[in-house]
Amino acid sequence: MKDKRTPITMLTAYDYPSALACSSNLIDITLVGDSLAQVCLGYSSTTELSLSEMIHHCRAVARGTTHPFIVADMPFGSYQVSDEDTLRNAVRLVQEGRVEGVKLEGGEEIKSTVWNLSRKGIPVMAHVGLLPQRHVAMSGYRVQGKDVDSARKIVSDALALEEAGAFSIVLEAIPKELAAYVTQRLRIPTIGIGAGSQTDGQVLVWDDMIGTWGGHKAKFVRRFGDLKTERDSAIQQYAEAVKLRTFPDDSESYNMDKAILEEVTR
Ligand code: KIV
Ligand code: NA
Repeated sequence: MKDKRTPITMLTAYDYPSALACSSNLIDITLVGDSLAQVCLGYSSTTELSLSEMIHHCRAVARGTTHPFIVADMPFGSYQVSDEDTLRNAVRLVQEGRVEGVKLEGGEEIKSTVWNLSRKGIPVMAHVGLLPQRHVAMSGYRVQGKDVDSARKIVSDALALEEAGAFSIVLEAIPKELAAYVTQRLRIPTIGIGAGSQTDGQVLVWDDMIGTWGGHKAKFVRRFGDLKTERDSAIQQYAEAVKLRTFPDDSESYNMDKAILEEVTR
């Protein structure tokens, strides 16, 4: 797709219904992102998500997925351990979580981890730029790569990760010019989020995309739907209908034979 300059579509899914929705020929990759922590589980950061919680959701996504390629984020802490434990954790995501690839945040410093997993046959998607798992160390969720040093580091990290065997790389919250340059320098496809339109693909968080998430909206999010308004209006109508006893109506209720009723209540 990169060679043909056909944009790659990636979308997150966290459960069976969102996975079914991603199982369309319009979506190329389903990502079980660790954004799961915030949008589904109510945690304040992805660092709170455990590997077993991730696996539980991956299994649901796998049950709802037909053709797209499923990739899961390795949760914070699950790949900062020994090589052996990192491999075991990635294998659990593949065997128990039934995903086909894993995504890891980081640059040059995780090169050997990417190499080790790839070499054992687990496809690795890299992730550079804004790294939500390091939001504390990075002093918040901020655009990266705006100055010479940080832009150069993103380029060298991306090249190192490609060399280590990553099959693709997410570029998050970096200037569009830098993302275009990295995309042109790499042989592997780049998937952007807040990285402009010249990456090989785009990714968005499901709840941001369909507009069910009413919280903070990052600059790079476009709400393609407004399901929150629809949902809230449905809740309001449901509650009103219950209070007014207009729900359920006759067509939504079961009937009983009169003679039987008389016998029961006699
Ligand atoms: O966790 C996530 O959803 C992600 C994507 C937005 C890239 O990492
Ligand atoms: Na993530």
